[in-house]
Amino acid sequence: MADRNSAGYHAGKEAAGKSAADLVEDGMIVGLGTGSTTAYTIKEIGKRVKEGLDILAVVTSYQSEMLAIEAGIPLTSLAEHSLLDIAIDGADQVNFDLDAIKGGGAAHTREKIVALSAKRFIIVADDSKYVKELEMPVPIEVLPCACKLVQKQIADLGGNAVIRAASKKDGPVITDNGNFILDADFGKIKNPEELSSDLSKCVGLVEHGIFTNVDEVYIGDLDGNIKVLKK
Ligand code: 5RP
Repeated sequence: MADRNSAGYHAGKEAAGKSAADLVEDGMIVGLGTGSTTAYTIKEIGKRVKEGLDILAVVTSYQSEMLAIEAGIPLTSLAEHSLLDIAIDGADQVNFDLDAIKGGGAAHTREKIVALSAKRFIIVADDSKYVKELEMPVPIEVLPCACKLVQKQIADLGGNAVIRAASKKDGPVITDNGNFILDADFGKIKNPEELSSDLSKCVGLVEHGIFTNVDEVYIGDLDGNIKVLKK
């Protein structure tokens, strides 16, 4: 497994991100995820568009929108195309059942909307993300005025949620939707489906980062090898 700061970490991201770009075919409507791994996917799809690939894409954040525009990928919206052929996105952790935690980049609300609008949802990640059990804090987008209430509801579910700050001296991270992010630590998550459903019932919570609808995962390693895992 590659260290997060090592070249291998980035080699794994690059290999996974680029390989999933091959899944995109002429005529598809494609969801483009957010983060450093999908940045490789977006650039690779952009190259193929320049060579004649005919697609439209829906972005999941201002970050992926800027990258897609730079790469020359024509964009559309869910208002115009509500059913996507494929969505490709990164993840912060993926377990052996292919449940994922996302939202390290605070974009998981739009990422989940795009993922659930797609016929096929693909995760791209380096091998440091692939774990037996999900255990990292779950990113949770909240309405700013509901922060304290959501923290209390999370405590009732056995978690400990802290407001994500850009740095020690800065204020809270603000999402593309104008909301705050809580990172909610539940320790090892034994039943992601159940926690997902419990979190969805919290009042004031916009969306949480547990994804249980992943179809395939492309894992890249230090040497650029790809492992494809399917549900
Ligand atoms: C953004 C996400 C990202 O996909 C996730 O954080 C992985 O990012 P990276 O590819 O940079 O490691 O969920 O909200």
